[in-house]
Amino acid sequence: MKLTNIISTCVAGAVLMMASSAVYADDIDKGKKLAKKCTGCHTLNEGGKNRLGPNLYGILGQPAGKVKGYKYSKAMASSDIVWNNNNFTDFIEKPKKFLKGTKMGYAGLKKATKRADLLAYFETLRSENLRKVVAGNATDGTRVAEKHCNVCHSFEKGGKVVFGPNLFNMAGKPAAAIKGFRYSRALTNSNLIWTDDNLLGFLANPEQFLKGTTARFPGLKTAKQKADILAYMKSLK
Ligand code: HEC
Ligand code: HEC
Repeated sequence: MKLTNIISTCVAGAVLMMASSAVYADDIDKGKKLAKKCTGCHTLNEGGKNRLGPNLYGILGQPAGKVKGYKYSKAMASSDIVWNNNNFTDFIEKPKKFLKGTKMGYAGLKKATKRADLLAYFETLRSENLRKVVAGNATDGTRVAEKHCNVCHSFEKGGKVVFGPNLFNMAGKPAAAIKGFRYSRALTNSNLIWTDDNLLGFLANPEQFLKGTTARFPGLKTAKQKADILAYMKSLK
């Protein structure tokens, strides 16, 4: 990872953390109003139909270019983007600059505060399923870790690198930031932040979530397992 990338990831991460601790119902309301700029081309409700652009319900945490029945530009379809708070915000600022060749005909939202409000609103567009999943049990999560992760990862503070990086205090942090671990190029360049959604997506099926990752792990099958490991990881601070 280039130094400039590291810096921009850290800065973005820090800004995000500040932003996320300061999201008020107010911002969500403002974001909802701003979303009128999108609804000419996008439906935002669960199961809504595709218009000129794809349905955007639950888009954060999902790989780009995968909404069923929508014909994307080649640029978007082959982008390897996984939508997170960072790249969503960058995309909205100037779609065509962020992704050359996208057919999203929207000039962009210039003001950072407006993009943050819009993001706050988009974060509420999640399935009940995902919201429920977030309430797992950390103790049960240690058992999931023993069974499915410990061959490759240590979780305790200062734990050693096994086949995968140490996972202490990983939730909410930028990906590929553990010193001394040789990450895949895919993860190094992903600009991912390990939000709940991204962790859940990754743990469900690493290879499908991030093409080219070297996490050779088939994925957790049940919602309960995913919820529990997430709760466990979030308890490690
Ligand atoms: C003029 C129509 C138009 C407007 C307005 C518009 N979009 Fe889009 N959007 C599109 C099109 C078309 C695509 C598909 C792009 C492609 O395939 O390259 C798209 C794609 C997207 C994607 C990627 C979806 C995916 O499945 O990966 C996101 C995210 C998105 N738009 C967000 C927004 C947001 C947020 C707004 C409002 C600020 C907005 N768009 C406004 C037309 C529009
Ligand atoms: C077979 C070994 C293996 C297993 C089993 C495995 N992982 Fe990994 N994991 C890896 C490797 C290797 C990487 C680095 C991936 C890369 O660089 O693309 C990784 C990366 C990760 C990352 C990203 C870390 C970072 O620094 O960004 C997380 C989070 C993660 N694994 C969580 C888990 C959890 C939770 C489990 C158990 C449910 C698990 N992994 C099971 C090998 C494994």
